[in-house]
Amino acid sequence: MVVPVRVGYAKQRQVRLLRAAELAGDGRVDSGPAVVMVDRGVELRPLGGSGRPASLGRASARLAAAMSVTILVGGQWGDEGKGKVIDLLADRVDMVVRSQGGNNAGHTVVAQGKEYKFHLIPSGILNPSTVCVIGHGVVVDPKVFLAEVDNLHAQGISTANLLISERAHMVMPYHPELDRLGEVQRGDDRLGTTARGVGPAYEDKVRRIGFRIGDLQKPVFMEKKLRFVLRLKNEALTKLYDAPPFDEKAILDEYLGYAERLHGMIRDIHPLIRDAVASGDRILLEGAQGVMLDIDLGTYPYVTSSAPTAGGACTGSGIPPSRIDKTVGVFKAYTTRVGYGPFPSELTDSLGEWIREVGAEFGTTTGRARRVGWFDAAVARYAVDTNGIDSMVLTKVDVLDEVPTLRICTGYEWRGEYWDHPMANISHLKHCEPVYEEMPGWMAPTRDCREYDQLPAACRGYIERVAELSGAEVDVVSVGPDREHTLVRRQLL
Ligand code: GDP
Ligand code: IMO
Ligand code: MG
Repeated sequence: MVVPVRVGYAKQRQVRLLRAAELAGDGRVDSGPAVVMVDRGVELRPLGGSGRPASLGRASARLAAAMSVTILVGGQWGDEGKGKVIDLLADRVDMVVRSQGGNNAGHTVVAQGKEYKFHLIPSGILNPSTVCVIGHGVVVDPKVFLAEVDNLHAQGISTANLLISERAHMVMPYHPELDRLGEVQRGDDRLGTTARGVGPAYEDKVRRIGFRIGDLQKPVFMEKKLRFVLRLKNEALTKLYDAPPFDEKAILDEYLGYAERLHGMIRDIHPLIRDAVASGDRILLEGAQGVMLDIDLGTYPYVTSSAPTAGGACTGSGIPPSRIDKTVGVFKAYTTRVGYGPFPSELTDSLGEWIREVGAEFGTTTGRARRVGWFDAAVARYAVDTNGIDSMVLTKVDVLDEVPTLRICTGYEWRGEYWDHPMANISHLKHCEPVYEEMPGWMAPTRDCREYDQLPAACRGYIERVAELSGAEVDVVSVGPDREHTLVRRQLL
């Protein structure tokens, strides 16, 4: 519940107070008084002005019993339907925090038949009382971000509860260009990136020459730093790639222009998140991409440049692992992948094409055709094991309605050896033989089912086998893009 009040601090801005959610039947006690969550100005203070939220003492005392942080990760190679699930859960949480990635992500939400595509803004934004935070681990292209904000406003959707971490890095104008040129330079070994500059932005972050969102509020620093960094970038552009250099003043003018618009949203989000965790507020960490695109755990180098896994959700939000209650993994009932890299259960035949058409498997961000394959339980098990997934959401089950015989990949054979997980050696993964189990299809429409038990028996058999092989329960099944096409066996939150 959101209770707007006026407080008498310096800027006399409106402060929003989020009451800890009414706690339904999970043994928690309502925290009662509100904790300051969001203001639209500079200061973030609790009622009473002590510098600590009014309810913190009591909240700390009941922390052990009231942790309520849920991580949501994509369990495959991205595009599993995370956006839909985040939107569904948004009205059950106080805050959604996006923790990594950039506008390489494309999260689709369909609400009352209307489609929304989010690249940077958390997919919980359609719920007006949910605070949406872009966390430290995200790389933000301010131009894309503001276009997304404008687009939402044009549709009458408020972004009053949207905040960006001061610590989040920025995609600078030279990053997409370096992304594109890097791919050209790789030739046949190109990765198939989204060309949004996300990889080069993370490179600069790690090289410690990145720009953070907070830098926008320090124009003198920004100018000095840009002079230094742009010299390096222009040298690479002109000497390595034979490409034109970028103009310092043009970049500075453009980005300081963004600074004005972003000013009210930029925060040191640490106190906000710390206090929300301490108060037992319900927080959902929105993952982008998927486990197999993780920089460490994925099919390196055919991966993204961040950690879309549960660990990355912690570093990207600043929430410690000890405060995580639950990890939800979203999986498609089959598998897709955009871009290059090994994909053992890929279907390169007409059935793959058919599934691509029926499932509308074309990228939300780039429009590229997604590669399609059978559900890979070895990948799913790996995702469950490396993320501690407690609950699976299985999406796009309806897409398989007319496939007479289904296959599930259970492991791989490589030179006479059996592997129950994706091997680190991507050349082996590329050339291994997937081991399949066959199951009968259900050959009946599922889109109109509203309860799990209404699904055809063969469909339930498939879902239960997927769960068994993956090592986690399938708690939610999705049979269509809209909110209503969701069968909840057990509430996720
Ligand atoms: P994300 O990146 O994980 O959020 O997924 P995307 O939004 O990129 O891709 C998932 C696509 O599948 C979107 O177009 C969704 O609207 C759609 N979708 C989600 N769940 C279902 C489902 O159960 N059935 C069907 N047919 N489409 C779905
Ligand atoms: P969501 O959040 C699917 C893929 C790209 C490419 C690789 C590296 O919508 O699931 P990058 O631009 O990140 O350097 O590209 O990662 N990729 C995604 N694939 N869904 C995504 O996000 C992706 N984000 C990046 O296609 O193969
Ligand atoms: Mg997507």
